[in-house]
Amino acid sequence: MRRLHGLARAMAGAAVLLAFASESALAQANRQRAISHPAAATSTPRGDAEAGRQKADAERCVECHGAEGQGVTHAGASATEARVPKLAGQRPEYLLKQLRDFKSGARKDDLMLVAVRNVEETDLRDIVAWFASLPRMQGPDARTDFAAGRMLYAQGDAARGIPACVSCHGDDGGSATAAGPLVPIIGGQGSHYLEQQLLQWRSGWRRNDAAMKEAARHLSDADIKSLAGHLATQR
Ligand code: HEC
Ligand code: HEC
Repeated sequence: MRRLHGLARAMAGAAVLLAFASESALAQANRQRAISHPAAATSTPRGDAEAGRQKADAERCVECHGAEGQGVTHAGASATEARVPKLAGQRPEYLLKQLRDFKSGARKDDLMLVAVRNVEETDLRDIVAWFASLPRMQGPDARTDFAAGRMLYAQGDAARGIPACVSCHGDDGGSATAAGPLVPIIGGQGSHYLEQQLLQWRSGWRRNDAAMKEAARHLSDADIKSLAGHLATQR
């Protein structure tokens, strides 16, 4: 009887262990999948680009982001205008995530909070589908070689704990497909916007992605200026 009791206890123990092991294996597999295929962790936006064109106008997105999603590029743009990113040709999954983050407060910006606060998710999907369908954002021709930024982008700086940006953002900042759809295109983006975002990541003001926050942590002001200058002219 005592032996049976002991056996039952051992079996119950083993069952608990097994359940625990299989559950944690599942959790691990899920985490792994989320890392290697972020799309699996988010839903792919399947919006209607044609409807999105009208909605972007009705919701006044184009007033700031430009009729072709190219931001405000004229010389002498005001400080607020220069803060506005280009959205043309950007990855729709990335755009949708940002809009959700602005809504929830995970990414903080007063103008964007007001802009999206009352816009329904289905409308946002259509709008991002339209911006994503436009010809990819473009900056001016490269006149200066931002050598330091170019090197840092391609190789990082292991001694200072800075990863190679290219591993996620891809050649020319076109976003490496293997890194998943949540990594934005940054080649051809406005240099002032890029600089501001890198400063925000470094200070911790923008914190809606752990890997990116880590990547920016050790950048100096000069690194940031040079990276932004380099990236703005990539295409
Ligand atoms: C009053 C001007 C203004 C309006 C209107 C506006 N935006 Fe923005 N948007 C901005 C600014 C400024 C930023 C940069 C915020 C920051 O510094 O983080 C931004 C950022 C974004 C981003 C993040 C892009 C990136 O590369 O991370 C997306 C996406 C976006 N806006 C979409 C929209 C959509 C969609 C609408 C319409 C529903 C809209 N915006 C309306 C000014 C505006
Ligand atoms: C491990 C992958 C990874 C590495 C390495 C990485 N990034 Fe990023 N980066 C991301 C992701 C993911 C995002 C989008 C985060 C989010 O959801 O807001 C991002 C966002 C950005 C943005 C904001 C773009 C926008 O439109 O707002 C900039 C600028 C940027 N990265 C520059 C860099 C630079 C410069 C480096 C190298 C020093 C770098 N990144 C290294 C993954 C990475």
